[in-house]
Amino acid sequence: MSRRTERLAGGLIDQIRRFVDEHDVTYDDYRAVKQWLIEVGEAGEWPLFLDVFIESAVEAKAHAARPGTSGAIEGPYYLPGAPLLEPPYELPVRADEEGEPLLVHGRVTSADGRPLPGAVLDVWQSDAQGRYSGFSEIPDGILRGKVVAGDDGAYEFRTIRPAPYTIPLDGPTGQLVAACGWNPWRPAHIHLKVSADGYELLTTQLTLADSDYIDDDPARAVKPELIVQPLRRSGTLVIEQDFALAPAIHALAGPAAAEGAAGRAAAEGAAGPAVGPAGAARRNGRAAASDRPEGPDREPASRRRAWRPPMAAEPAPRFGAPRRS
Ligand code: DHB
Ligand code: FE
Repeated sequence: MSRRTERLAGGLIDQIRRFVDEHDVTYDDYRAVKQWLIEVGEAGEWPLFLDVFIESAVEAKAHAARPGTSGAIEGPYYLPGAPLLEPPYELPVRADEEGEPLLVHGRVTSADGRPLPGAVLDVWQSDAQGRYSGFSEIPDGILRGKVVAGDDGAYEFRTIRPAPYTIPLDGPTGQLVAACGWNPWRPAHIHLKVSADGYELLTTQLTLADSDYIDDDPARAVKPELIVQPLRRSGTLVIEQDFALAPAIHALAGPAAAEGAAGRAAAEGAAGPAVGPAGAARRNGRAAASDRPEGPDREPASRRRAWRPPMAAEPAPRFGAPRRS
């Protein structure tokens, strides 16, 4: 028996029971929610729903006391095992990739400002239509890859400007969003996992300052300090952003601190420069077993890979139907 499981599960059930009482939840409400929960599972949308509506609260709690650059949610579209790219760094694109060319550069340092040569930036982003490879018709591997910082911690990679992303509207999560009249669009953003030996893995996102929906992110994952202003320099769109990493071992708040530090250290190790057989596998675009650490920052890759947002519109009308009572 796990005390923590009992405390969290019991507390959540108690909260829901209180909620039922406070909000006068009816049998119609109950049946509609039950059916919707079943449909979220059947559509494989639990990662989507949880990462858009819950993860930002967990992220804020997990990293409240951590020095250095702020973290932001991982979201449901990270795939481990992206290839280590070769300089000059450019995220893989299709031959006819749409979207404005974009250069992202800056420095990776420790939280106290020392450069971290060899730091790895594992980058993923949407295309100019707001779609992620591996979860849409876009070929695997597009707009995903690992970039390495140079001697002075400086990094630079070319990509294209990502577009705002919409929560898929054709599944149960989208139906809920529509039924509530919420905005389904996230502002344009670039995801990164920045790692270096001896430092905590930083999972973060940069939001483009000139994007729509900045002030209305359904995932509530935009942080003012992570909003970047793309500037035009001799015709090229440029984003400059430095990353400062917390030392691997530092005081963390909360009961799961020790466990959390161990999991993050594992994740960090695996994201390091490609050496040995695991590195070779990564270069070939395959994830080696050791490339898939498990821990609080990582779910088992096998489970995560299972999720694909539904690609065909298949309206399941029950949740949004008018209430009869
Ligand atoms: C979701 C999508 C994202 O691109 C992201 O960064 C976070 C969450 C989502 O739909 O849950
Ligand atoms: Fe995203």
